[in-house]
Amino acid sequence: MCGIIGHVGNGNALETLLTGLENLEYRGYDSAGIAIQNGSGIELEKRSGEVTELKNAVDRSVLEGCVGIGHTRWSTHGPPTDANAHPHTDEALDVAVVHNGIIENYAELRAWLKSEGYAFTSETDTEVIPHLIQYYLDSGLEGEAAFRSAIADLEGSYAVTAMIAGEQVLYAARKGSPLVVGVEDEEFFLASDVPAFLEYTDSVVFLEDGDVVVVDESGVEFTDLEGNPISREPETVDWDPEQAGKGTYDHFMLKEIYEQPTSLSQAIEGRIDGSNKRICLESFDPGTFTDVESVQLIACGTSYHAALYGAFTLRQAGIQATAVLANEYSVAAPPVDDDTLVIAVTQSGETADTLNALRKATAEGARTLAVTNVVGSTAARMADDTLFIRAGPEIGVAATKTFSSQVVMLTLLAQRISEDRSGDPTTDLESYLPELARTPSAIETILERSDAGTIAERYADSHAYFFIGRGLGYPVALEGALKFKEITYEHAEGFASGELKHGPLALVTPKTPVFAVFVGEEDEKTLKNAAEAQTRGAPVIAVCPAGHEATEIADEHLEIPDTDPDLAGLLANVQLQLLSYHSAELLDRPIDKPRNLAKSVTVE
Ligand code: G6P
Repeated sequence: MCGIIGHVGNGNALETLLTGLENLEYRGYDSAGIAIQNGSGIELEKRSGEVTELKNAVDRSVLEGCVGIGHTRWSTHGPPTDANAHPHTDEALDVAVVHNGIIENYAELRAWLKSEGYAFTSETDTEVIPHLIQYYLDSGLEGEAAFRSAIADLEGSYAVTAMIAGEQVLYAARKGSPLVVGVEDEEFFLASDVPAFLEYTDSVVFLEDGDVVVVDESGVEFTDLEGNPISREPETVDWDPEQAGKGTYDHFMLKEIYEQPTSLSQAIEGRIDGSNKRICLESFDPGTFTDVESVQLIACGTSYHAALYGAFTLRQAGIQATAVLANEYSVAAPPVDDDTLVIAVTQSGETADTLNALRKATAEGARTLAVTNVVGSTAARMADDTLFIRAGPEIGVAATKTFSSQVVMLTLLAQRISEDRSGDPTTDLESYLPELARTPSAIETILERSDAGTIAERYADSHAYFFIGRGLGYPVALEGALKFKEITYEHAEGFASGELKHGPLALVTPKTPVFAVFVGEEDEKTLKNAAEAQTRGAPVIAVCPAGHEATEIADEHLEIPDTDPDLAGLLANVQLQLLSYHSAELLDRPIDKPRNLAKSVTVE
């Protein structure tokens, strides 16, 4: 949700900023802009559209200098026009600002600044910031003091980076939106996320709320809002820059689908003690979860589907568990006490809805755990404990490999909580652990043999696409439909297979293929539900192992290797990811950057 990049160093900032913006486009891509100190003042270029448009438009002879900022936008206040694109400036171009977040008191600030004679040119909340800085400069304050005073006036959430004409300095502040500092010898970066500068440095400081930084060629000064020095140590990020690139694939999404055998191996590595048939979860000693009476999982989007999957496996292991949409949790959370474990499932660790729910759970006294992909993310820092899914950077807006890794992490956790509470490894582990170890190669088999491309072609002119499943097949049906609608823009819905007859059946026609997910739980009932749709003319595509009885009635099938019921849904989901990908490709959709969406949504 909006990507910020800033650069201070010896070389020209422009190419670094443009590459950084391209690497951050997954956060928003409706407009982009750059501002650079070129010696005599601030030079600016910004426009609606993707970063490529900006890249084609910049005049490299003008935008020349070592200090600069850039932004790629996902609109909140004001449509994606040239005027609303960041950086925003004061009238004389003395101050330039990029911002991610929402300034809640912008209307009051704007009215007041206007009454003081400052002229506004955009509809954004952000534009108050450069005018505020200018106001304090006009009042006689120096650059850093003017920046601090402006920040102190802001209410809401922000990651802000600013520069003032003539100063070879960047000022930045963070509250509620992510901001990281990259450090490499005499080159410094500010960004919303690490992939922005990963090809230059893996040494990263994750800023905390209330941090203010001043960056110039001599280094980075970390302070609190009042200006008191604070200590922030760089961490080394173990992501490889190649992982953040597209490689030979046409799209990040396809690359990330194909990375799943590796990302799952990473998620599992060191977490299974095969000889003792136990699950080892890093810092969690045996018995850590003995007192857990109930589990609540909070998440949004694809992570919510992983959370539903996790809640189901927890309940199967005899633990009271429920998954709640994070944005609904803050309205009416189920009661918690100190025996409740609240698990925030969030790939980015920055989703505002999920963080708010996590805050609420903490305030109510629950024990909290984050399941996330991003080291140093806000969720990882807010929760009492964290389990990292180790999926590597995921750039495609439609989440794929992180869903699989979240599911594996949560099924491992379910087994582990159950083991701690009962004092014994569960009998389920005998089947689950060897099958889990085989999952990466089972996914490889699917990737090699999938017929999803052919099926996508066969049903390309359908009116709507339905996905059904029961038990662990249900979150997979929901995820299959979400993926499909996100990247094809076609109407797709997921249902519990038993619910089809309670309403959705009215929508079924020969032009609405029904994808039925079979995961080995009451499959005969799902088969009946699929047959009910087929009787009304809908083609049925079964996602199931070879030889499954569903293949006898279904019009087509997408094959998955036989596995433990806890893992079958994970395999079925890979087939559905491929189906969505190929369907979107046939429609020539911008697969990695679907319209109106962003990967990391840092507003409520
Ligand atoms: C956005 C993305 C989804 C993602 C959701 C939750 O809506 O477009 O792909 O599933 O946020 O993100 P998180 O980082 O919390 O998993």
